[in-house]
Amino acid sequence: MHTYKIAVIPGDGIGKEVVPAAIEVLDAVAKMDGTFQFEWTEFPWGCDYYSTHGEMMPKNGIDTLKQFDQIFLGAVGMPELVPDHISLWGLLIKIRREMKQSINVRPAKLLKGLESPLKHPNNFDITVVRENSEGEYSESGGRIHQGDDEIALQNAIFTRKATERAMRYAFELAKNSHGHVTSATKSNGLTYSMPFWDEVFSVVKQDYPDIDTTVNHIDALAAFFVMKPDTFDVIVASNLFGDILTDLGGAIMGSIGIAPAANLNIEREYPSMFEPVHGSAPDLAGQGLANPIGQIWTGKMMLDFLGHHEAGARVMNAIEATLERGIKTGDIGGTATLVDVKVAILQYLQTHEEVTL
Ligand code: NAI
Ligand code: MG
Repeated sequence: MHTYKIAVIPGDGIGKEVVPAAIEVLDAVAKMDGTFQFEWTEFPWGCDYYSTHGEMMPKNGIDTLKQFDQIFLGAVGMPELVPDHISLWGLLIKIRREMKQSINVRPAKLLKGLESPLKHPNNFDITVVRENSEGEYSESGGRIHQGDDEIALQNAIFTRKATERAMRYAFELAKNSHGHVTSATKSNGLTYSMPFWDEVFSVVKQDYPDIDTTVNHIDALAAFFVMKPDTFDVIVASNLFGDILTDLGGAIMGSIGIAPAANLNIEREYPSMFEPVHGSAPDLAGQGLANPIGQIWTGKMMLDFLGHHEAGARVMNAIEATLERGIKTGDIGGTATLVDVKVAILQYLQTHEEVTL
């Protein structure tokens, strides 16, 4: 029996509610599988911790996390308690950068039993590979002067190494998917970074002759997400483009409350971090009404990353079956509570041995 050591950071707000629910589901599928188990170690880091300690996590926090196989995180942020730039850069972004989690993977697919806000969503199943370490989100820049003469500079940084790494990851994914990669560019407007991005893409794609490719400008691509999302397979995008596109991905699925994500250290030198797309939802926190599906599906991504695809498929089957039964939280038009959804998913697992991959 293999034991995975997982660091758990529930974080703030609804993170504290959806994480324990997802852990119950992951323990249940591990038990059904019988070849592995999880050992969860919880860390109380976040905005409450900041209120008493003046920091989001202890100084040796990163070293502590390095001793684990993976990190399972809820959400971070309580703007009334701690300004967002402090809470985000003090915990989440710090972990992403120091653990070299250079790839952010975010799927968007039409789930059975869940209505998309699109009129003709067809059967879309998209994976966005977002470059997670550089690009438009860099700490390079500055502000000089004040008032009418003020100047703000924000530099976007694109290295060949990181650009190529994200693209190769997308091509590898496409091999086991539908064999198509779309590159998100904007080389008509951005005259240095995106022509470079296009050039690297055209070099990398030569190593994958069996994969079809398309290059779309990001503005057109955003429109295609609404008009014909079923025409995409894997999309590779820079940090900013990927960030925006994946919120749209959550929206066309039906709710940000179901959208999952993984920050991957693809070299597997450090732990990767699995956290849903949504935040701490202070407006919902403490009421037991948050949708746990985003966190549970995020757990499925962790199972896949660990190579347990059958267990991952079980989780997905249980999520879709629960939606098809109409057991839905308020964000997707239902009246169920978080516990109702969790119980229905656990019940489905207990009564369905078979699994559809
Ligand atoms: P949010 O994602 O927390 O909430 C946006 C809206 O979606 C709210 O109306 C909320 O009620 C709803 N929502 C989100 N998750 C839901 C769920 N599971 N079930 C049902 N409804 C759900 O984004 P917001 O309000 O912009 O940010 C709140 C805090 O979270 C801020 O401090 C922000 O910085 C932080 N944040 C943290 C993230 C992370 O830890 N990865 C990501 C995004 C925001
Ligand atoms: Mg975002």
